[in-house]
Amino acid sequence: MATLPCMHDALPGTTRPFEIIPSVLPADFSRLGDACRDLEQAGVDRIQFDIMDGRFVPNLTFGPDVVASLRPHVGVPFEAHLMVEEPGWMYRAFVDAGCDMIIVHAESVGHLHRALDEVRSAGARAAVALNPATPVSDVEWVLDLVEMVLVMTVNPGFGGQAYIPTMEPKVAELRNLVLSRGLDVDIEVDGGIGPATIAGAAAAGANCLVAGSSLFRDPDGMAHAVSDLRARAEATRPS
Ligand code: DX5
Repeated sequence: MATLPCMHDALPGTTRPFEIIPSVLPADFSRLGDACRDLEQAGVDRIQFDIMDGRFVPNLTFGPDVVASLRPHVGVPFEAHLMVEEPGWMYRAFVDAGCDMIIVHAESVGHLHRALDEVRSAGARAAVALNPATPVSDVEWVLDLVEMVLVMTVNPGFGGQAYIPTMEPKVAELRNLVLSRGLDVDIEVDGGIGPATIAGAAAAGANCLVAGSSLFRDPDGMAHAVSDLRARAEATRPS
């Protein structure tokens, strides 16, 4: 009887460098500076800050002043994931706070092309995020403005949620679109990324892998979590 190809056999993978990127959402916010230092020592490639406004998502976190207070204490790049309705007024503030990448949700602005132009004009690398229900086609005509597309693998707002595996074909579709256009664009996934899920996301074509709970709650520590996740992603490389 023929063996059915597993999900990974059918997926294109990626040749781009893998980046392990923590979300600090699960951190003890009374010790956020220590957490960022620990993450840098654990070998993460950059740090993602989840900015939530209580409207775009049913949760509220922090603003640019908190990010600015952390900037002097670590050397890795910062990215701001804006889960904020109409965030245009805050791009410059997060650049001034020390973020070199700003991620805007396609669903959060009325004019996405203009919004991404404004992010670039503010001096940041631009990225666009897609909620689970949002199709790849929604970003097809802004791929030339961004350096990364974030495919959410949970519905945004909280850490510790279950990974949505049906996003893997969406990641693969995006990867093939980026390749067909000859564009130099990273693909990031965020939500439920851990030892049991990272291979599926990487095999689908994601090379920037955001992890919160799995990094902060690894019983063997953050450094183990980072190296283990990186090894699991590397194991999916197309031969
Ligand atoms: C959810 C956030 C994610 C989340 C990831 O809205 O964007 O970054 O914190 O946390 P885990 O890895 O715990 O799902």
